[in-house]
Amino acid sequence: MERRRVLVAVSGGIAAYKVPELIRCLVRAGHTVRCVVTDAASHFVSPLVLQALCGSPVRSQLFDASEESEIDHVALADWADIVVLAPATANTLARLANGLADDLVSTTLLATRAPLLAAPAMNVNMWRHPATRENVGRLRDRGVRFIGPESGALACGWEGEGRMSEPETIAAEIELCLGPRSLTSTRVVVTAGGTREPIDSVRALTNRSSGKMGFAIAAEAARRGAETVLVAGPSALSTPQSVRRVDVETALEMREAVLAEMPTASVLVMAAAVADFRPSKPATTKIRKEDLGDSAPVIELVRNPDILAEICAQPRDGRIVVGFAAEDRDVLETARRKLARKGCDLLVANDVSRTDGGFDSDRNAVIFVRPGGEAEELPLLAKAEVAARLWDLIEKLRGSSA
Ligand code: PMT
Repeated sequence: MERRRVLVAVSGGIAAYKVPELIRCLVRAGHTVRCVVTDAASHFVSPLVLQALCGSPVRSQLFDASEESEIDHVALADWADIVVLAPATANTLARLANGLADDLVSTTLLATRAPLLAAPAMNVNMWRHPATRENVGRLRDRGVRFIGPESGALACGWEGEGRMSEPETIAAEIELCLGPRSLTSTRVVVTAGGTREPIDSVRALTNRSSGKMGFAIAAEAARRGAETVLVAGPSALSTPQSVRRVDVETALEMREAVLAEMPTASVLVMAAAVADFRPSKPATTKIRKEDLGDSAPVIELVRNPDILAEICAQPRDGRIVVGFAAEDRDVLETARRKLARKGCDLLVANDVSRTDGGFDSDRNAVIFVRPGGEAEELPLLAKAEVAARLWDLIEKLRGSSA
């Protein structure tokens, strides 16, 4: 098995007594393990034991000059290939769901861009409480994976769901999350977000794309070991781990950035919502109402180049080109026509009229459409899961064309 960097974040629950065994499993599997603990966790498991097992200092304090000088908490968050929260208490999950960061564990969880696996452990009624259900749902939507909890006798005396999964089970799930490094030696270009086409020095034409879909696709490619370039329109999202990001604003800039990356790319995924039109003559200064009297400005638009179609028209040399289609009606039929027009190897159609997915949502319901019309419809899924399914299919296509 490949040696990976696993950061184990321990929060304060009785199940913390299982963490030493989890660390042993991970070390036995050949991984480098580091550990951070909350103050409460150190009542349930000795940091000294954890330190002896993982072979590096166990940190617990955010504001400790000596600990921070050793390795600061952001460096720790960046270091990890995966972060495992075990046990994940109701409190830690609630804090993470709400973005709270006031101790080392919560700060690290918020700062990391690595995949996060949570192993909940708590009283059955706490697990079933609507607040916990809601927090878990929000975290799942953001791509956090969960293992357990399992049912059985709980330390609090109750029976039911709430037991943390066994260390071997968590360790096996970590291997699944780390995934096969199936895209090593593959260079991937992903576009994300909407473009912004200036009208004048302060206004622009844009759309509702947040970048979430494309960022998830880039994150998954990098997780599978691909050398990943993300060409992103304006987006507030943070760059996924191990991804090189090229920020662009307009469709013309996106075209230039994508074309520059293409010569050595084996896969292109165009998830960006590229503006089809742009103002023909953007004003260099702000258009002022007072200069227009009672009239409104007339903005003439010109067509932007179709980046996807342009790349599809070039010789492929084994490269796979994937497009997206944002449709609000007749989704499948329109997508089939679009695929035939653009000439890509796969089109991912999404119904952007839905309120539970599509633009700026953490979820998406997509249909994979292939040349020839074959279609596979997926249920509504977290965008991270859509990204994983998409790469599974791309890998299959690459395998069959090799
Ligand atoms: O960013 P999110 O908030 O997560 O939302 C995700 C999404 C809805 C934006 C995404 O899933 C999606 O559907 N992206 C494509 C949106 C789009 O522009 O669709 P389209 O049907 O207009 O374009 C079809 C394809 O051609 C797309 O791959 C697009 O990137 C590409 N295109 C479009 C126009 C253009 N001038 N050049 C292009 O390359």
